[in-house]
Amino acid sequence: MQKHEYDGIIVGAGGAGLMAALHASRGGRVAVLSKLYPTRSHTGAAQGGISAALGNMEPDKPEWHAFDTVKGSDYLADQDAVELMCSLAPEIIIELEHLGLPFDRTPEGKIAQRRFGGHTNNETGKPVMRACHAADRTGHMILQTLYQQCIKQGVEFFDEFQVMDLLLDEKERRVAGVVAYEIATGELHVFHAQAVLFATGGWGRVWEVTSNATSLTGDGTALVWRRGIPLEDMEFFQFHPTGIYKLGILLTEGMRGEGAVLLNDQGERFMERYAPTVKDLASRDVVSRAIYLEIREGRGIGGKNYVYLDLRPETINKYFEKEGAKWPDGSPRRVTKEYLLEKLGDTIGFCRTYLGIDPLEEPVPVQPTAHYAMGGIPTNVHAEVVVDVQNTVFPGLYAAGECACVSVHGANRLGTNSLLDLVVFGKLGGQRMAQFIRQNDPPPLPPNPTARVEEELERLRNGRGKENPAEIREELRRVMMANVGVFRTRELLEGAREKIRELRERYRRARVMDPGRIFNQDLLEAWEVGNMLDIAEVTTVAALARTESRGAHSREDFPERDDENWLKHSLAYRRDDGAIELDYKPVVITKWQPKARVY
Ligand code: FUM
Repeated sequence: MQKHEYDGIIVGAGGAGLMAALHASRGGRVAVLSKLYPTRSHTGAAQGGISAALGNMEPDKPEWHAFDTVKGSDYLADQDAVELMCSLAPEIIIELEHLGLPFDRTPEGKIAQRRFGGHTNNETGKPVMRACHAADRTGHMILQTLYQQCIKQGVEFFDEFQVMDLLLDEKERRVAGVVAYEIATGELHVFHAQAVLFATGGWGRVWEVTSNATSLTGDGTALVWRRGIPLEDMEFFQFHPTGIYKLGILLTEGMRGEGAVLLNDQGERFMERYAPTVKDLASRDVVSRAIYLEIREGRGIGGKNYVYLDLRPETINKYFEKEGAKWPDGSPRRVTKEYLLEKLGDTIGFCRTYLGIDPLEEPVPVQPTAHYAMGGIPTNVHAEVVVDVQNTVFPGLYAAGECACVSVHGANRLGTNSLLDLVVFGKLGGQRMAQFIRQNDPPPLPPNPTARVEEELERLRNGRGKENPAEIREELRRVMMANVGVFRTRELLEGAREKIRELRERYRRARVMDPGRIFNQDLLEAWEVGNMLDIAEVTTVAALARTESRGAHSREDFPERDDENWLKHSLAYRRDDGAIELDYKPVVITKWQPKARVY
């Protein structure tokens, strides 16, 4: 076992982790540990843009952005956090620009913006161009920019180090470091530090059809949960409306932002019925439900489980003409193949590569795909982890980005707000961490810091069980897709909970085929299954308890939103015997009282 001493550890090298590292490293020695090579982090998959009310293309205001976010969240987001995020958005975009991010430009040289779901001009209710973008590789550009800046600033990286445990000084209830597994050698490393920030992303792999990369198994969230940290609002998981049929690969909402439309088997632009004002640019929960309803009513393409996303210029221009759509300079809004290729080149390429379909010539089959966790590790706006309904801070522990719940997304996130969330709260968390590490020394390490991890890995490598972890994982993903998806009922959720318990029992007897140490992917994946089971169980238990429909949590047996009883965040606690207990804390309302949500 190797031991390392740092002031701060960042777990995860996506946008939130890198932004935090950049700022935290101003307070002391900081290391970033990632299971991947940093620029392969999943932030790179966020295609369409990052939101900020710059007003570069048409009138816009941070206050409109904040209201849209609150409305999109189905009034579950904490409004103080939302107002802060949206007011900081313009300056953080400029900060990214100055760090070198190559945004697309308007003809006058300003940062270009496009439409995205749920972002509106609050006076007309019509979509507004708020998503700043670098073609359709915005997240990728954020990663490259921040990684280069971290290298320049001397942040140290431990690539392909899987963090497996959080170390605490139990007496003082303070953070003492982490245990990591070096993937190349199978060696364990202890990182001793007074502050740790988790930025480990989401857990879309818990569902069978997902836009998330194979690495998104909820590791950071699950491991802090096993150390007694509660999880907030886990019942809310977003399905992005346009995943490639069966594969789940994301086709950016930026396609609809540039004018693409969803069509059913009758060639009808069905979103006109579900969201008459903003149509295909309603928020994601609304669009995903509409697709499911069309399919259920037999209007999927050829009676199958998908609809079409039509990006052909002739289709887009037909609807632009019908609506009298205009560019900011007042000229009629029309698109050409060349324009779409410039703005959406990667996405068009995905369709060509994975489906053999050219979306400029043919419509593309799409279905909702598990995409984003609104819930996670509870934090305040400084990314400090809070552990109870009074928001008591756990000293030295931070979380930012998708694994955290601030909460700015409530029950449903607006597209492009994830990139904004991770840079804003990554930065605020990094700044707070810098302060903390200047003022505090690390507590002593607990005795035998690696014991827990060694025991778990030994069981998976050399235990006497015969269960195959990959089979357990695939059964889990199937039941989550069927029972804990876009629509839920008590019966479905209870069925999922029983199945997860059965799988958990089987997981105790799981063993890998490869007991080796060098790049043992078999072992790592088996360990991830344990995290996925934890996450799935909390999600299901919290979803069963919430007897209302709100945002992405749509209960067919309780179809209405119930503000009287459920305008509150859930907090799930893991008791020592493994049982899950739920508590609730109030939503912060600053100026927008809940009202009916129509688009
Ligand atoms: O559709 C997209 O480009 C995804 C962006 C997001 O999830 O914010």
